[in-house]
Amino acid sequence: MYLNFNIDTMEKQIEKLNSKKDQAQLGGGQKRIDDQHKKGKLTARERLDLLMDAGSFEEIGMFVEHRGRDFGIDKEIYPGDGVVTGYGTINGRIVYVFSQDFTVFGGSLSETHAGKICKIMDLAMKNGAPVIGLNDSGGARIQEGVVSLGGYADIFYRNTIASGVVPQISAILGPCAGGAVYSPAITDFIMMVEHTSYMFVTGPNVVKTVTHEDVTSEELGGAQAHATKSGVTHFTYPNEVECIASIKKLLNYVPQNCDEQAPVYDYTEGHELREKLNTIIPANPNQPYDIREVITEVVDTESFFEVHKDYAENIVVGFARIGGRSIGVVANQPAVLAGVLDINSSKKGARFVRFCDCFNIPLLTLVDVPGFLPGTDQEWHGIITNGAKLLYAFSEATVPKITVIVRKAYGGAYDVMNSKHIGADMNYAWPNAEIAVVGAKGAAEIIFKREISAAPDPAAKLKEVVDNYAENFAHPYKAAARGFVDEVIEPSLTRIKLIRAFKMTENKAVKLPRKKHGNIPL
Ligand code: HXC
Repeated sequence: MYLNFNIDTMEKQIEKLNSKKDQAQLGGGQKRIDDQHKKGKLTARERLDLLMDAGSFEEIGMFVEHRGRDFGIDKEIYPGDGVVTGYGTINGRIVYVFSQDFTVFGGSLSETHAGKICKIMDLAMKNGAPVIGLNDSGGARIQEGVVSLGGYADIFYRNTIASGVVPQISAILGPCAGGAVYSPAITDFIMMVEHTSYMFVTGPNVVKTVTHEDVTSEELGGAQAHATKSGVTHFTYPNEVECIASIKKLLNYVPQNCDEQAPVYDYTEGHELREKLNTIIPANPNQPYDIREVITEVVDTESFFEVHKDYAENIVVGFARIGGRSIGVVANQPAVLAGVLDINSSKKGARFVRFCDCFNIPLLTLVDVPGFLPGTDQEWHGIITNGAKLLYAFSEATVPKITVIVRKAYGGAYDVMNSKHIGADMNYAWPNAEIAVVGAKGAAEIIFKREISAAPDPAAKLKEVVDNYAENFAHPYKAAARGFVDEVIEPSLTRIKLIRAFKMTENKAVKLPRKKHGNIPL
């Protein structure tokens, strides 16, 4: 009798469990799922199916319900409350993940929705694994008032505390407004999908009311706007499938947490000479070329994974592998603005350098820089503070740091671009490198101004002093004589040198002076 009672109850309980699970799977209902698909978007669970290794996802909090009682939302209870959270593996490595469900109150964040995200963030930090957020949310749930604002603050706080402890990646997969953009902003990388994802603090309607500007969601906060103008997003993709594939790729370059190393791929040293490097740099020092050609030649085949590609294109940053090991590459891009450093490129470079340093990823710096961009626009918008960010980021980085000067290294930019003086471990220069305070013509015009104007043939005199200056300074041997450059190398040998130098610095350990934290010029 006792046994039967229990069996009956258990069967009923299992029925109830399955019904709750079905409701959770359905989110806000079939019609809303269909609407999501019509917009070219996947559902929260479909996204997780694509992201996680098959069968690895373990859901946490499937039956959590919101506690809101105002404005009629007590009549609309959806198990899971608009976010699917849990853990699983990607390429066999543990990750914690949340996926917001736009079909439930527009993916808006209630107190309990926030609680679910905080729970997995806490687990991620305790257990040292990345957090991935698939964001699709209208921001704070308006019907819940301050508790939803509090929920966001709980997440922002955890984003901040987790920063530098575990990698945090945000995919923006729908219209994200208000608090839904500040959490991604604190994470390490943001990815957006063209034409279906938007990020703004306030949407076009509020903009119209406050500033009288007419602007579409796409113009205000679409993927292109954030990839090229604001720099808020690091990556854009034409669809969600490619975006999710890219999250998996990115994870292959990074460690699980700040105490680990990134995965090392098998690599057997083979034919490492790269003859092409001897001919990439044009003979004319003012002629542009694409630094990506140099990057591609020195890193392992097809390993370069560019970050922030469409923003501040005068600097190129991204992950790659050398001899199977992850590295971060920072390179001036002579094909855009002659590779000059300006506000945006300094911010872009600094942010990337700091990520690599947080997560033990060695840095390779390729230098071809004519200096900092002059002008009122740059000065008034703070090139001083912003340029200093890159200087600070390279200086404080304690990971192995290796530099190759492939052509120009002029002025303050020579110092900034991971020079020996700010802690680089190995500095190489190619034979055509020009390392000086200013270019030969500018230098000659300043220091020989009087001689040039007094000469019977000023043009001939100018040529004479420019040639003289160039012969004396526009080469790497003065720097090499001082040890600021460790070796002048034939370009084709660069890859061999780098494989060995990164191996040599593999166990680098540097302790900075005790401090609470530094004060980077923000
Ligand atoms: C409750 C919301 C919601 C929200 C959307 N919904 N946002 N419910 N709270 N914040 C609901 C809608 O009522 C609707 O429900 C469903 O989600 C889908 O929304 P639509 O408007 O139909 O979708 P769409 O046209 O795609 O527009 C998406 C949107 C828009 C751009 C996100 O909904 C929007 O502007 N929402 C409000 C954004 C906002 O102001 N959020 C608060 C920000 S303040 P039904 O039942 O009709 O399907 C904030 C504070 C934190 O976040 C600040 C920290 C710094």
